[in-house]
Amino acid sequence: AVLGVLVSGRGSNLQAILDAIQAERLRAKIGVVISDTPGALALKRVAGFDIATTVIERKKFADRRSFEQAIAAELQLHHVELVVLAGFMRILSSEFIGHFPGRIMNIHPALLPAFPGLDAQAQAVRYGVKVSGCTVHFVDEGVDTGPIILQEAVPVLDGDDEHSLAERILHVEHKLYPRAIGLFCEGRLRTEGRRVIITEKR
Ligand code: GRF
Repeated sequence: AVLGVLVSGRGSNLQAILDAIQAERLRAKIGVVISDTPGALALKRVAGFDIATTVIERKKFADRRSFEQAIAAELQLHHVELVVLAGFMRILSSEFIGHFPGRIMNIHPALLPAFPGLDAQAQAVRYGVKVSGCTVHFVDEGVDTGPIILQEAVPVLDGDDEHSLAERILHVEHKLYPRAIGLFCEGRLRTEGRRVIITEKR
């Protein structure tokens, strides 16, 4: 499938997706990388590859609607089939989501529905949970509320702060996101209400 990856920053998940494609562990193609932040490290990660990149800044648009329309137009221009949010720090409206029904994925650094929103790893440390992890889910109108595709747990250790926990989770994110995208590309994800069923490999 053709992927459109939306980023705002570091882009380590983008890197993991790129690596999986290069290693032929993931049969997909990145059609375009869109950043809402100029100079994001994520953009540098695809430099040297034959991948289109675009910066679309919120402040260049009068309102969220026209900003999102510009993103949607760019994705459509590149025939994107799956929109991959990889550290994209903005909430998308239901109008935008309606353009790509069942075709937007996000990764969140906690075991949802625990600790949605910002600073999930700090939330987990503050709460005192003994296990956290990451979640790949389809995006719906809510914040980190969409149907869950894959989750993996990591321990929270006594000495952890948000940074050490984030690092442990990130390591797992980098395996889980390419795997979830692969399942989508193989046509193996079926949604029944809130539940995502992973069908057998044919
Ligand atoms: C990751 O922790 C991801 O779970 C969250 O934002 C972070 C993005 O990191 N949504 P990166 O830009 O992929 O390095």
